[in-house]
Amino acid sequence: AGPIRVALLGCGTVGTEVVRLLTDQAADLTARIGAPVVLTGIAVRKPNKHREVPAELLTTDAAALVASDVDLVVEVIGGIEPARTLLLEALRSGKSVVTANKALLAEHSAELFEAADASGADLYFEAAVAGAIPLLRPLRESLAGDRITRVMGIVNGTTNFILSGMDATGASYSETLEEASRLGYAEADPTADVDGFDAASKAAILASLAFHTRVTASDVHREGISAVSASDIAAAKGLGRTVKLLAICERVTETAEDGTTKESVAARVHPAMIPRSHPLAGVNGAFNAVFVEADAAGEMMFYGQGAGGAPTASAVLGDLVAVARNRVHGGRGPRESAYAGLPVRSIGQT
Ligand code: HSE
Repeated sequence: AGPIRVALLGCGTVGTEVVRLLTDQAADLTARIGAPVVLTGIAVRKPNKHREVPAELLTTDAAALVASDVDLVVEVIGGIEPARTLLLEALRSGKSVVTANKALLAEHSAELFEAADASGADLYFEAAVAGAIPLLRPLRESLAGDRITRVMGIVNGTTNFILSGMDATGASYSETLEEASRLGYAEADPTADVDGFDAASKAAILASLAFHTRVTASDVHREGISAVSASDIAAAKGLGRTVKLLAICERVTETAEDGTTKESVAARVHPAMIPRSHPLAGVNGAFNAVFVEADAAGEMMFYGQGAGGAPTASAVLGDLVAVARNRVHGGRGPRESAYAGLPVRSIGQT
């Protein structure tokens, strides 16, 4: 088969690792896909800042790169614009998209899926939640025949790095945040991490997939960790507990006065004191872990590296292989789950 032509949008911590893996694994990828992958261009804002990737691939014109002769667009810019416009353009012209952009998916997934469905393109985003951990495909595919009741976990590496660092060393909040940024876990603007916006976007994506409904970031009740002090951590310790920022997505059943029950979906993000014996208490550093409870399957836990360049790039490459295989052998990836009619409610900490 002819080569799969790939455009890369963005070349930060994750993008650089995507380029490295595409180069290092080229022979294996060709064998797995059944065709070679060719990276045709990398759109960046400042080409002179990217000495680690081939200079001849760099361009500042992302729109032209998307409009060029490519099969697949990989987006690791982050944020809503220009990513939204670029990806809609790609999908509308039949190009498949692999993205790690949780903020975009948490706001505009309906529009993106519509564009993908209209042209028959693929839209994959495993890297958007919990980095390297295979989580979205299990939710949307492996568990599609079951009834998920709850998804709860640690989905932000930066805040978990900060909270577990403060717990282990007694170091200050700002010192630990600085180290998280240096290691490439924190977002360009760490407010997204520490105020819970990043986790809220991920909760919206998880709830949408788990409950076959549309939950956006604004539906998620959100509280960050900026008010968690060293003395809070010490107090929790004294009680045999530790503080974790949890994302909790669940089905809520309410019984009306006449005895009829009504089901809805709610998602929230807030710091929680959990017993040190709880499995989530042992999830430290930038690691993420997500519990899923389903009627037939019971309880499951997904654990691994949820942030950082290489782990996130691993998930991007997995999606790239899936999309490229569909291009070579035919077929399409999963669509948006049919809307199950469950209303979404905003419920705070219970
Ligand atoms: N800033 C995010 C985190 C990166 O700390 O989890 C992964 O989405």
